[in-house]
Amino acid sequence: MSIKITPPEVETYLKQLYDEGDPVQHEMEALARDRKFPIVGPLCGRHLYQLAQLIGARRVFELGSGYGYSALFFSRAVGEEGQVHCTELDQKNIALAEDFLSRAGVWSRVTYHQQEATEALRQTGGTWDIIYNDIGKEVYPAVIELAYRHLRPGGLFISDNVLWSGRVFDGQPDDSASTRAIIEFTRQLFNHPGFSTTILPVRDGLSVALRV
Ligand SMILES: C[S@@+](CC[C@H](N)C(=O)[O-])C[C@H]1O[C@@H](n2cnc3c(N)ncnc32)[C@H](O)[C@@H]1O
Repeated sequence: MSIKITPPEVETYLKQLYDEGDPVQHEMEALARDRKFPIVGPLCGRHLYQLAQLIGARRVFELGSGYGYSALFFSRAVGEEGQVHCTELDQKNIALAEDFLSRAGVWSRVTYHQQEATEALRQTGGTWDIIYNDIGKEVYPAVIELAYRHLRPGGLFISDNVLWSGRVFDGQPDDSASTRAIIEFTRQLFNHPGFSTTILPVRDGLSVALRV
């Protein structure tokens, strides 16, 4: 079972409204279509950009960066003095990111760790304005406390795919490990006293948890 979270007409309308004609962003989107690579997409991308602006984010740590599509939005939002740390296991994606983000003029703000993402955050340490979570879904529940420890009060813990094409809804037959992990993650996140959480029903569902 798989449903579209955003009605196609709404998606088309918003994509047109949000599109600023950026050639590097378009190239990254074309590559995702060609390779069926799961980027967060332009609608969520704009939310990431605006959420970072809203809290004046300067330090962003991404868990699961691929070839830098979500990092493109964050690195623009944090400004020249900002930092975006990215994590990715596949060297080919990191090389693509360097090419795309250099041409977008933001590579100097970006640091890639070729390392398991949660391990990279533990090792790097520090306090972040935003932690963005887009790694393997089975790991999601374990990320909550880690993110809490490394966010400043007023910081944001943002996670992609929390509506999982509708497979998390009551009565759906999917009982895979990833679906169960997302349901458990969402339950824990909404019950966590240190976070105030909502879900933006855009593309595949983006949870936004304010670290109170
Ligand atoms: C869904 S893609 C994310 C793409 C990126 N956030 C975007 O929107 O363009 C997830 C990426 O994270 C990487 N990844 C998955 N689990 C990871 C982990 N535990 N540690 C590091 N990288 C991981 C995968 O190789 C993949 O490129």
